[in-house]
Amino acid sequence: MKVIHTVSALNLALQPFRCEGVEIGFVPTMGALHEGHATLIRKSIEENGCTVVSLFVNPTQFNNSEDLRLYPRTPEEDRQLLQELGVEILFAPSVEEVYPEPDRRVFDFGLLDKVMEGRFRPGHFNGVAQVVSRLFSFVQPDRAYFGEKDFQQLAIVREMTRRLQIPVEIVGVPIVREPSGLAMSSRNQRLSLQEREQASQIYRMLDKSLGLTGEHLPRELAEWVVGEINNVPGLRVEYYEIVDGDSLRPIASWDESDRPVGCAAVYCGGVRLIDNISYR
Ligand code: PAJ
Repeated sequence: MKVIHTVSALNLALQPFRCEGVEIGFVPTMGALHEGHATLIRKSIEENGCTVVSLFVNPTQFNNSEDLRLYPRTPEEDRQLLQELGVEILFAPSVEEVYPEPDRRVFDFGLLDKVMEGRFRPGHFNGVAQVVSRLFSFVQPDRAYFGEKDFQQLAIVREMTRRLQIPVEIVGVPIVREPSGLAMSSRNQRLSLQEREQASQIYRMLDKSLGLTGEHLPRELAEWVVGEINNVPGLRVEYYEIVDGDSLRPIASWDESDRPVGCAAVYCGGVRLIDNISYR
């Protein structure tokens, strides 16, 4: 595995693959890697002749400097895992390498970046669009892999790619969970054992709600989920919304959408967790 820190070295390393017509798969990450990331990476390795993984904690997507400071960093473990998985290139640039000048672009994805995460983390998706579009132009992958855990991020990356006409196939990968049901996340490292136990109730309630769609309209069911999660000591729901999985528009009845998805953001102590579930 080549470990690369600059865009020019990345170009040199990719050149032989490009010349030979080898397909390039790309998995962008912020490191502190876990089995969720590993699943995306294995899929890329299966589907492409060369896999590039980027490890970059992107400052422009953090709307809270404390969250950026506390974001877990485990570079040595990450390098070892990527080596074992069989990744060809690890790209770990500095902030100056990615942003030689401040990125002043402002994206507007309509409703997609206004609801849910967009409402509670203003500017977050603008930073995601900035960094992902830059990484795409550095790597120029044939395919790029994103987790459905960050459901709204995946919708925005698809829309950005379409609007900027970037020739890359965006592949969505289902959520990987702990045996307890808790969605894997780098942020889970900040949970105590007791908090992990509490946090596993989030998915339990989402899963339970699947059986109640016959009795409740989406809004009522969303309220039920909020109540159940808030009843667990240590958990505080920021939002739970049932939306159409393509437009992210909140739905009033189940037949309004072919793909209703419930999306949650929940504080467990000081750690903000997100999760989602498909109702079809
Ligand atoms: P990060 O949180 O490191 O996640 C990298 C990728 O792994 C994302 O596509 C995310 O959805 C996926 N992922 C994380 N946990 C997962 C799980 N439990 N199951 C399936 N996929 C999972 O998302 C980001 O980084 C950043 O916003 C990034 C796209 C790299 C831009 O900075």
